[in-house]
Amino acid sequence: MKDKKFTVSHFTQLKDKKEKITMLTAYDYSTAKMMDEAGIDTILVGDSLGMVILGYEDTLQVTMEDMLHHTKAVTRGAKNAFVIGDMPFLSYHITVEEAVRNAGRFIKEAGANAVKLEGGSEMLPQIKGILAAKIPVVGHLGLTPQSVNVFGGFKVQGKSSAQAEQLIQDALALEAAGVCAIVLECIPTKLAELITSKLSIPTIGIGAGVVCDGQVLVINDIVGAYDQLSPKFVKTYGNVGGEMKQAISTYIEEVKNEQFPEEKHGFKIDESLLEKLY
Ligand code: KIV
Repeated sequence: MKDKKFTVSHFTQLKDKKEKITMLTAYDYSTAKMMDEAGIDTILVGDSLGMVILGYEDTLQVTMEDMLHHTKAVTRGAKNAFVIGDMPFLSYHITVEEAVRNAGRFIKEAGANAVKLEGGSEMLPQIKGILAAKIPVVGHLGLTPQSVNVFGGFKVQGKSSAQAEQLIQDALALEAAGVCAIVLECIPTKLAELITSKLSIPTIGIGAGVVCDGQVLVINDIVGAYDQLSPKFVKTYGNVGGEMKQAISTYIEEVKNEQFPEEKHGFKIDESLLEKLY
């Protein structure tokens, strides 16, 4: 277990040392605490919340209030991990002023250390505005889920030379603007390798190969607690969903059969006192 707070300067320090950066999503206090105790570097309160916690089909309906509510819970559980709040759809698209105000809420109200937002060069005014307010920003390129309707589904990005060139230019522009790291989602490994080699800030991959400077996955996916989608890039390390279903079935059975609660689960009262109550 680590006992040192991961700060924004650790992103480039770890890249320089060629030490991989670990990131997972979390949405609640207990999970964040477990991750923190296990020694995770960074926790992303992803807007994947909309799908894996709130049950939407995509991330587009997630609100600032949803994100702040869950980010507050995560920051209470994360002592050492660097917590990144994910800016939801339309919280940073309309004006720079709104983007800065909403980014500020993640820091001021929810205790996050940074914000993440999706998009390339078209988001530079917002990114620069947020950075000018002294809020660290993590970029997100490739399969940016808030653009699912433009992409026509959750599809691998950067496979044509025009798309690949655009992603490289976007990554360089985001770095020049001052973001501290860039998430690369669902792009070919060789392209991720090229982008990673061109940047002095780290890339955090999800479906972008081992070449990235760090990796991120959705916690519900890695522990087998979400079965609506199973992307190729996910590795399942546990079967929490199966364990929970088993525990719930056993509970139902035991309540029906009066096997639960047992005497040890109840509380005693003085018998003489009880007699007077009859
Ligand atoms: O919302 C999210 O969880 C994300 C990661 C998967 C990168 O953006």
